[in-house]
Amino acid sequence: MYKNIETALSHIAKFAPIEDKSGASHFPIYNTATFDLKKQNGDKIYDYTRSDNPTREMLENLFTHVEGAAGCVCTHTGIATIALLFETVLKANSHILVEADCYGGTFRLLKVFKEKYNITVHFANFLDFEQLEEILKNNKIELVLCESPTNPGLKIIDLEKVSTLSHKYNALFAVDNSLATFISQRPLEFGADFSLFSTTKYISGHGSVVAGAIVAKTKELSEQIHYYANAHGRSQNPMDVFLISLGIPTLKIRMQEHEKNALEIAEFLKTQDYIKSVTFPALKEHPQYELAKKQMSYIPGVFCVDFTSVELAEKFIENSKIFGEKCSFGSSDSRVEIPAKISHASFSKEELAAIGISDSTVRFSIGLENVQDLIEDIKQAVQK
Ligand SMILES: Cc1ncc(COP(=O)(O)O)c(C=O)c1O
Repeated sequence: MYKNIETALSHIAKFAPIEDKSGASHFPIYNTATFDLKKQNGDKIYDYTRSDNPTREMLENLFTHVEGAAGCVCTHTGIATIALLFETVLKANSHILVEADCYGGTFRLLKVFKEKYNITVHFANFLDFEQLEEILKNNKIELVLCESPTNPGLKIIDLEKVSTLSHKYNALFAVDNSLATFISQRPLEFGADFSLFSTTKYISGHGSVVAGAIVAKTKELSEQIHYYANAHGRSQNPMDVFLISLGIPTLKIRMQEHEKNALEIAEFLKTQDYIKSVTFPALKEHPQYELAKKQMSYIPGVFCVDFTSVELAEKFIENSKIFGEKCSFGSSDSRVEIPAKISHASFSKEELAAIGISDSTVRFSIGLENVQDLIEDIKQAVQK
């Protein structure tokens, strides 16, 4: 019935775990902490919303279906999802292998796990398979984690190859799929054990909520994430599930439009003399362009631009009338930020330089506005 993902996304209420006899198009928001055990006689018994809630379960069922997974947990933020992954897989003194080009919040969380639980974090360039194999061979790595595309460097990682290599050394492989989303790329199809994503971004799509989700490939891993989500209180509240569900049916058309707008703007910026470089996987000159096209149906509308000077980058942001200076991405409004100042401030300058990010790098998240309005805005902002 739901052979194609967009059909499932347009019928979220059908994924509800219990029947609602009202015929309402939207499944009710069960905004309750507790459920009366005496009043339930179905197969599934609810007792407390931290453990389980029908509204949240509807979203978990949908994500399980579209990612081809065995189970899912929806969490209260995207970073809580990553914390839940670490809490599930790692123990004190574990080793983890992470792509060095990762979200600043993930980097900060890794520091916390390192300091508190003596976790050894091996950072590597996941384009370099020899380096990866060397680390996997010489250490007992329990978990391998990467984003693809990476944020902010926009590298494309070969998920199938990294998955095969991780499993060869008995490590679990998790992919942060926040940028691509499941409409575009499904990491479990490439062999990953977990796919996780911040639903704050493209999936909710309108910047109205902060949330996340993780899906697991096997029943055993799914039971583990549910156990730790309940133990650590990671679960998402039902009201936020409702806000996310409002954006979901339009995910595909939004992703198409984000990509189209972003490509036009990236092509325009490439020709400007105040721009040193544009890094965007949808551009043919991107070093992993072919892989990007193979792994993803739509390229997310996020790219990085190196201005010829820090002053020019700052001038553009200051004078722009449409682009807000905001962190996050995937919303209907276009926004820019200097990763070194905002989303990746937890990195040192040297750590950022190692992944190709400087103070004059500006990350663009292109929204759904008229593209000519955006180009005119860029022109006036750099001329002022
Ligand atoms: C790639 C990536 N993963 C995870 C997160 C964390 O998500 P949240 O902000 O919803 O906690 C972010 C946030 O920007 C991100 O960019």
